Amino acid sequence: MAFHLILISTLILFLTAYKLYQRLRFKLPPGPRPWPVVGNLYDIKPVRFRCFAEWGQAYGPIISVWFGSKLAVVVSTSALAKEVLKEHDQQLADRHRSRVSAKFSKNGKNLIWADYGPYYVKVRKVCTLELFTAKSLEALRPIREDEVMAMVESIFKDCTDPENKGKSLSVRSYLGAVALNNITRLVLGKRFTNEEGVIDEQGMEFRGIVTNGSKLAAGLNLGDFVPWLQWMYPSLEEEYLKHCARRDRLAKAIIEEHKLKLKHGVGTKQHFVDALLNAQDQYELSDDTLIGLLWDMITAGMDTTAVSVEWAMAEIIKNPRVQQKAQEELDRVVGSDRVVNETDFANLPYLQHVAKEAMRLHPPTPLMLPHRASSHVKIGSYDIPKDCIVYVNVWAVGRDPAVWKDPHEFRPERFLEEDVDMKGHDYRLLPFGAGRRICPGTQLGINLVTSMLGHLLHQFTWNTPAGMKPNEIDMAETPGTVTYMRTPLQAVATPRLPSHLYKRVAV
Ligand code: HEM
Repeated sequence: MAFHLILISTLILFLTAYKLYQRLRFKLPPGPRPWPVVGNLYDIKPVRFRCFAEWGQAYGPIISVWFGSKLAVVVSTSALAKEVLKEHDQQLADRHRSRVSAKFSKNGKNLIWADYGPYYVKVRKVCTLELFTAKSLEALRPIREDEVMAMVESIFKDCTDPENKGKSLSVRSYLGAVALNNITRLVLGKRFTNEEGVIDEQGMEFRGIVTNGSKLAAGLNLGDFVPWLQWMYPSLEEEYLKHCARRDRLAKAIIEEHKLKLKHGVGTKQHFVDALLNAQDQYELSDDTLIGLLWDMITAGMDTTAVSVEWAMAEIIKNPRVQQKAQEELDRVVGSDRVVNETDFANLPYLQHVAKEAMRLHPPTPLMLPHRASSHVKIGSYDIPKDCIVYVNVWAVGRDPAVWKDPHEFRPERFLEEDVDMKGHDYRLLPFGAGRRICPGTQLGINLVTSMLGHLLHQFTWNTPAGMKPNEIDMAETPGTVTYMRTPLQAVATPRLPSHLYKRVAV
């Protein structure tokens, strides 16, 4: 017992001395005072990006936050975001992996959690050249449009059901379904649900894996940031391993189905799984990498799109003027004897600005994903030591009053006055990040979000539930890497086109 106490005190003393040494040696950004051992871990409020933005108000646009003994630096302005994602892009392009993301990714054998280096460059090249080319995105367009129409059909069915007259719908449930079906079809070539919305056995397993993965990933513990306390959390290790084995089993079964089809010459469609199988030998991709990439696309591409549309719809319902203006544009360009499709986007600038404005105010991943310094750099005249975690608070950047007029106002017209790029070229608007680690699914994400919004607005009018005023919609967020609305959006949908335009013609 005495020995343990001496050991723990020595460790605490050692760590405190080390922290002091770091602070004296480096000019670290200012921030809230850290406690011994736990740092600021227990001062961080659950909705982290808001907490960091508040601290930014008190300490400045670049702050130090101690996650236990691990230093993180958070930047909150466009100018500093540019320093991180452009000027020092290469030195800050590694990833900080928590214990769970390290386990899930087999220490970075995928894209999302890989450090920057030859392996990352190779895998990123596979994504750029084999998965996200303009040609393959175009080839998969019918799937996206089919799924969006399936959503429209089910909303129509529910809101015209006499039993539901005047009742509100949970918008998220429809968006969740379209995002799930879209991503599983694009990535795995699978639609796990049938026409009636009944999910098959493999789909149940898929859903179980996704839910379990989110549950395990959400659990933050001190062991993540204070390595010598990891022994206190041993049981999770087993859970992680079990989860990975379950995930690999399902992916392997699906890969085998595709291999068989490819062998018989019937699997040549450009679903991601087929494209990766075709590219596997050429790029020398291991099975772990292939499986890792498939799950990357599913985890990164599913909730982000649904969440973006839910936030956008909340803003649209709060701002009836915007809804009316978007519908006038859709009626003028598309008319009322057909439905909108992706080829109309070029003629629908206001619709595109609505999507952009929603992502400015509500980027679905407000802190992006954690970057890590591979060497010592200086940002905004402060030292960023090697191994420091770096967050860009893109939520705060999108509301920075120094670069946005009336930053809290939802006003898509601002992009008519000045077109601001959101694909990583303009550091005022970064929902997809920028630089080497920019989201590879940017164009796909934009297409999906714009398409869902286009259909929802062209085919329905949206109102708050009876008795609720637009400004009573709860615009608070949930904690987590992907930020949902805390209260799922409820709205009343009223069809606005002839009824034959609500039928899905399955592809
Ligand atoms: C509205 C939709 C989406 C948004 C807002 C979004 C946003 C982001 C952001 C902010 C990052 C992190 C960038 C960084 O850390 O520097 C990211 C990474 C990533 N996204 Fe997306 N994303 C979306 C849709 C998609 C889709 C549809 C896919 C694929 C099907 C996808 C695949 C990925 C992958 C694989 C990464 C990791 C890239 C890397 O680490 O190098 N995303 N995304």
